[in-house]
Amino acid sequence: MQEFKDKVAVITGAGSGIGRALAARCAHEGMRVVAADVNEHDLNGTVQALRDAGGDAVAVRTDVSKLADVEALAQQTLDAYGAAHVLMNVAGVLGMGTTIWETPLADWEWVLGVNLWGTIHTIRVFVPLMLAQDTECYIVNTASMVGLVSDNPFAPYQVSKYAVVGLAENLYHSLARQDGKIRTSVLCPGLVNTQIMDAERYARAEQQDAPLEREAIMRNMRQAAASGMSPEEVAELVFRAIRREQFYILTHADSAARVQRRMENIIHGRNP
Ligand SMILES: NC(=O)c1ccc[n+]([C@@H]2O[C@H](COP(=O)([O-])OP(=O)(O)OC[C@H]3O[C@@H](n4cnc5c(N)ncnc54)[C@H](O)[C@@H]3O)[C@@H](O)[C@H]2O)c1
Repeated sequence: MQEFKDKVAVITGAGSGIGRALAARCAHEGMRVVAADVNEHDLNGTVQALRDAGGDAVAVRTDVSKLADVEALAQQTLDAYGAAHVLMNVAGVLGMGTTIWETPLADWEWVLGVNLWGTIHTIRVFVPLMLAQDTECYIVNTASMVGLVSDNPFAPYQVSKYAVVGLAENLYHSLARQDGKIRTSVLCPGLVNTQIMDAERYARAEQQDAPLEREAIMRNMRQAAASGMSPEEVAELVFRAIRREQFYILTHADSAARVQRRMENIIHGRNP
């Protein structure tokens, strides 16, 4: 995709971080933006900022883990702008889990609900709409480096991101077989300076009693994320990839070497 002006972009997780930066970038390209997020306060902040900068944007409060919300998002997109050309699945949560067995079931359901089911719902709702439109379209799904390399302390998050990589690759092949006008990429960022480490601000109260070990992990990760890449840099890389129709979007200098290490372990029969 080379031309963006007046096209309609639907962005989930647009209230904060990478989603917000992508919304700003889309508006900068002259696109009309449908911003979706479960956090209404942050969502309204994004849309106000886009409008203040002269952009055309609407806010649709959406919990992507709920099919009915995603269907309403599609309907409100059509009501507002009559079409959807770019879908950016960015909404995601880190969760509070530690190991597979220590993570409360509610946390598994929350993380898989947002990261995996949210992506499934939007693809199932928006792809048929895009196919019927028969216009040039683009879908970006957000996984993570955590979905490409082994060993992450957050079990549900890692499982969800591996699943999103699989989902995104499957979508790529399905769309290629259709020989239609929809292209797709999977975004696999390394550490980015966003609010993701505080995502448990949405978690249920009974989980606030976190184990000390987990608190230490979170502290280290927060420090690392604070020195991470800016969301605006990520948005820049995403647009470069869309223009080149490049499927895998890796963001950090060490990403390829980390993937290579895992692949070589698999190929050479070495343990992770
Ligand atoms: N920050 C990083 O280091 C990093 C690295 C790799 C991948 N990612 C991925 O990037 C994406 C964006 O994360 P971010 O870092 O910008 O975090 P963020 O917390 O700043 O933004 C995530 C947004 O998703 C929204 N959200 C959460 N649950 C939702 C739901 N049920 N429905 C709709 N919206 C919901 C939040 O309200 C928030 O606005 C996520 O998928 C994340 O997994 C982030």
